[in-house]
This record gives sequence, structure tokens and C-alpha cells, in this order.
Amino acid sequence: MTSQTNPSLSPENLPRHLAIIMDGNGRWAQARGMSRTEGHRAGANTVRDVVTRCRELGIPHLTLYAFSSENWNRPQSEVSALFSLLLEFIQKEVPRMLREGISLKVFGDIDGLPVAVRTALKLAIKTTARGRDMDLNLALNYGSRGEIVRAVRNMMADGLGPEDISEERISAYLYSSGQPDPDLVIRTSGEQRLSNFLLYQCAYSELYFTTKPWPAFDKESLDQALCDYAHRQRRFGRTQEQVDEQKGRV
Ligand code: IPE
Ligand code: IPE
Ligand code: MG
Repeated sequence: MTSQTNPSLSPENLPRHLAIIMDGNGRWAQARGMSRTEGHRAGANTVRDVVTRCRELGIPHLTLYAFSSENWNRPQSEVSALFSLLLEFIQKEVPRMLREGISLKVFGDIDGLPVAVRTALKLAIKTTARGRDMDLNLALNYGSRGEIVRAVRNMMADGLGPEDISEERISAYLYSSGQPDPDLVIRTSGEQRLSNFLLYQCAYSELYFTTKPWPAFDKESLDQALCDYAHRQRRFGRTQEQVDEQKGRV
């Protein structure tokens, strides 16, 4: 079924913001007798395919968890391999982002990244900033608690007082400022946890877990997750009757 014929994939049923915890590259590779780095390389191909599908469907905000602040604890060789793959990805994908109106953003402490990665990212962010059709947010050197600490520090540095603090104001100080909260969070590879990802923003997100490892998560897997989401009933604290009533009115 194509997006044209499947009503679950029509724009009003899709998440405005999809966030993905891309997990399982290492296990996918090891199960095949390959190195973890090869798993990350295969994972980078999945990133390309998933971005393509989201752009095609018209999902306006996509956030991909690519490197957590806790991932620094991995062996140095794996960390370097991840960053060289990231560099390669940015260099290859920027022309396509420009063509397709995709704006690249980073959620996380960009200045804590290796200098070559930092420089390439800053240039890519600047070059693609005018993209209006999709925000592609890469969560890199990202941790949600750290993001909240940073927000509080910046609010204090800006001289905000207790009366200035509201839920909206806090949102405005997070990396995701100006973008809607994720409607759907997908995590691949069987783990059912958030691993310090968008804790404030995901207060009301729908969660979808699949046992498929990230390198095996193809277009069909994504469509399946999106169809599952289209059938969820989001109540935001109300009763189902209230939700139905409101739907009838609009
Ligand atoms: C996800 O795959 C990529 C990153 C976290 C950078 P993993 O590398 O976590 O793969 P597993 O979980 O060890 O299989
Ligand atoms: C979460 O995956 C971080 C990313 C996907 C970048 P991990 O594989 O690092 O998470 P844990 O350690 O299993 O929770
Ligand atoms: Mg993992």
C-alpha cells in the first residue's frame, strides 16, 4: 500500500514530530559475525532510508538519537568510528538536504564534539538553515537531564525570576525550542527505556517498541509503526467520550 492509498499514512494521521532511539547496531552486527563498526555503517544506511521516507510522507520534524552523553563511556575506537561515520554522513547528505528543503539541527552539546565533527556540523546547520519542509534534528552528545540543567542555567543567566517560569518558557530553553513535542517515539532492538532522551518533551508522547534492530528497520517497519500510531487514542487526561465529542465538532 502506498501513502496515497493507506489512510493511516495520510498527513492528518501522521505524527508532526517523530523521534527515534536508533538502537541495536552492535547486536545486529555481532549476530552476523561482523564488527560493531560495520553495524553502525549499516545503521547509517537506515538513517538515510528513514529520512527519505519521512520526507516523502511529509513528516515535518524528525529527531534521531545518534549519540548520547553516556555513549562517551564506550571504547574509544568505537566512539571514533561513530564520529567518522557521522562526518561521512554529513558530507554526503547536505546536498540532498538542500534539494529537499531539509534543515539540519543538533540537539546536544555541539562544542563538546571532536573539532572536525563540530566544524562540519556547524557548516551543515548554517547551509541548510533555510530548509522549510522538514527539521532533521540529530541528538548528538545529548542527555535530557543535562539539557534541563542547561535550560535552568540559561534562564538564570537571562535574569528570569520565579514569576517568569512556565511550562512554555522551559520548553523555549530546550534544544527543541520552537518545535512541537514528539507525538511518537520509536525505539528499535527490544529495549523498553528512554535512556535519557527528551524526558521533558515526551510527557505525552506515544511510545512504540520493536524488536527489530536498527539496521533491519526498513521503510515497511517504519510504515507499520506509523500505522500503529494512527490507531492510538490520545486522550490527554480526558475521557474517550470527550475526545469523540470534540472530534465530531471539528
Ligand atoms: C545504537 O546501537 C547506536 C548508538 C547507541 C550509537 P548500539 O551501538 O547501541 O547497539 P547495541 O545496543 O549495542 O546492539
Ligand atoms: C541510546 O542507546 C542512545 C542512542 C541511541 C544514541 P544506548 O544503546 O546507548 O542505550 P542503553 O545504554 O542501552 O540504555
Ligand atoms: Mg544500544
